[in-house]
Amino acid sequence: MKFNQSNIKKAKKYLDRNYCIGVPTETVYGLAANAYSHQAIKRIFRLKKRPKSNPLIVHYSNISDLKKDCILNKKFRKLYKKFSPGPITYILNLSKSSKISKIVTNNNKSLAVRFPKHRIFKRLLSKLNYPLAAPSANIFSKLSPVQASDVKEDFGNKIKYILDGGKSKIGLESTIIDIRKEPKILRLGGLEVSKIKKILGGKIKININPKKIFSSGQSRLHYSPGIPLRMNVTKVKKNEAYLLLKKRKKNHANYFYLSKKNNLKQAAKNLYSSLRKIKNKGYKSIAVEKIRNIGIGQSINDRLKRASKF
Ligand code: TXA
Ligand code: MG
Repeated sequence: MKFNQSNIKKAKKYLDRNYCIGVPTETVYGLAANAYSHQAIKRIFRLKKRPKSNPLIVHYSNISDLKKDCILNKKFRKLYKKFSPGPITYILNLSKSSKISKIVTNNNKSLAVRFPKHRIFKRLLSKLNYPLAAPSANIFSKLSPVQASDVKEDFGNKIKYILDGGKSKIGLESTIIDIRKEPKILRLGGLEVSKIKKILGGKIKININPKKIFSSGQSRLHYSPGIPLRMNVTKVKKNEAYLLLKKRKKNHANYFYLSKKNNLKQAAKNLYSSLRKIKNKGYKSIAVEKIRNIGIGQSINDRLKRASKF
């Protein structure tokens, strides 16, 4: 995607007026608005039809801006150095002087923060004097968007502008880690947990299915294509779409490929767009072949499992 100065200006114009816009990130597209403005943040919740109890992730372009709103610690610095900008979100404590709208956190004292890697989004952030709250740009519990046209599909003319940055490279949401005390993974995502483990050492709790559902990404009915989905399928039914990890010799009209050569990264990138394509073609159900539960495969399986609860 070509870098376009005038598009960034346009995006900034809407954001400065507290409107929401679609933004590209390396994980999925976001629905962004000024994190310091109550009015802007209310608009995000209204547009997404998102429960107020689900706090938002705030996106920064550098640490010195983050310091104004959050209390940083050693674990954060270690992980930041290695993985940011990139597909990891940190839960930190808000600082007393923080200007983040209380609606972002639903009055909680912690904040989810992320440094996105997409160069157009980074460029946009560097032009603003406030950070951007941005949940994934989909209606609550629907499939996440990985390109501008997906955002358009959910919101149409209800949002003022979508900054087009091509297809998201990673295709799955960021991995969320709470590092206020003992490290705890709250959502599997674009960054593999084993890589985080290597940097932090010791044990990392995985708490992706808590009894009390707090995080929308932890909700069971989530990431849903809106039609039933079965996992680990070896025999596809008639009229069912079959989602596969590698090309078959014999092709069928109902075969869809996440990757040509059994590549998990590529499969992650293509997951949401494949599910969307199948749904839009009018299939009434989806069968997915077994996906290796290693590395990013764990994040793919996490999303499929939640989608299968439809
Ligand atoms: O990759 C991503 O993270 C994308 C892009 C746009 O950056 N954003 C994204 O946002 O996935 P969203 O709102 O769809 O998911 C954010 C998740 C939610 O599950 C929310 O409940 C959780 O982060 N969250 C936000 N603040 C939190 C906090 N203080 N403690 C625990 N979880 C939090
Ligand atoms: Mg989401």
